[in-house]
Amino acid sequence: MSDSGDVAVARALTTWFRRHGRVLPWRVRGRSSRRDGYRTLVSELMLQQTQVSRVLAHYEAFVARFPDVRTLAHAREQSVLAAWSGLGYYRRAKHLHGAAKMIHHEHQGRVPCDVASLGRLPGVGAYTAGAVASLAFDRPEAIVDGNVSRVLQRLNGRRESAADAGAWAWAAADALVRSACAVGLSPGDLNEALMELGATVCTPRGPRCGACPVRDRCVARASGSQEDIPLPKPTSPRRRLHCASVVAVDGRGRVLIEQRGPDGLWADMWQAPTLERLDRPPTRSELAEYVLGRAADAGMLRRAGGFEHQTTHRRVRFVVYTARSVPAGDGRVLKSSRALSAIPISNAQRKVLAMAGVG
Ligand code: ADE
Repeated sequence: MSDSGDVAVARALTTWFRRHGRVLPWRVRGRSSRRDGYRTLVSELMLQQTQVSRVLAHYEAFVARFPDVRTLAHAREQSVLAAWSGLGYYRRAKHLHGAAKMIHHEHQGRVPCDVASLGRLPGVGAYTAGAVASLAFDRPEAIVDGNVSRVLQRLNGRRESAADAGAWAWAAADALVRSACAVGLSPGDLNEALMELGATVCTPRGPRCGACPVRDRCVARASGSQEDIPLPKPTSPRRRLHCASVVAVDGRGRVLIEQRGPDGLWADMWQAPTLERLDRPPTRSELAEYVLGRAADAGMLRRAGGFEHQTTHRRVRFVVYTARSVPAGDGRVLKSSRALSAIPISNAQRKVLAMAGVG
């Protein structure tokens, strides 16, 4: 698109965003009329691969509990993970905690404003660095995620292959943000307008072109090809995982839980004792051996139900059992159901507990 075309698009998007953008808690500006760098970093990490509606349910409580870099940097990892509970993809919580420590120690507690320093923080890639730099610090930095890439490809009538779409979209977004800044528009508003348009109007299916502020400049719309852009990504099937969990409640209503290892899926989170297999469901005897120490006690496990759970990379089949008199020890501890709410437990394991009538 020409420079003047870019300026017109940037103006239309920015005006539309000011009128029609959703009011979201991380978009609210402070008295300085700037967005706070820390709150922006928290929200952008939460929003990585996660729906706005889910982030809305957790963001305010998280920043109330950890209101600034210093508080988060000094927090225990378990309490950070607990506050993250329900958001899924927990590596982000560890990254955010690591980022707060690094900002506290290396940047005097102030979130850096340049993409190079931001990009050195754990969990902060090009998108998040560009988002924080532009939204909180008005830096002329581009951002590209799936939404932005789709909007730009449709606007320009491009059908880039999945392999080329990223590089093309970053160049187009960069040109657009530079044109916007050259005429005094806010790069943060432009970037958020692009993501907002992609999330609410220029959606993958059934885009609401009638509500689009740049419909008259959209090459895809002019040729009616908006739904054919972008080209579908070749998908790799989610890998299977089979989990069998045992929910054991003692005479005082306390639930037996164990902690997962430090790596991989749901790292360091707590769970009802759970046995996993990649290729097939664990047998009841294997589970009895794992939980009760004796395969021959399989008859003590009662099946409570099962469910499918999807994570970013896995399709997980859970089967839930209940049992009485399961020994604690060996890293397994008994917790009251009230105490469970302060412990990092994945959504999947909360479903496991609920299926057995706990929580
Ligand atoms: N997705 C990523 N960043 C976002 C933001 N700031 N607002 C809404 N959705 C987003």
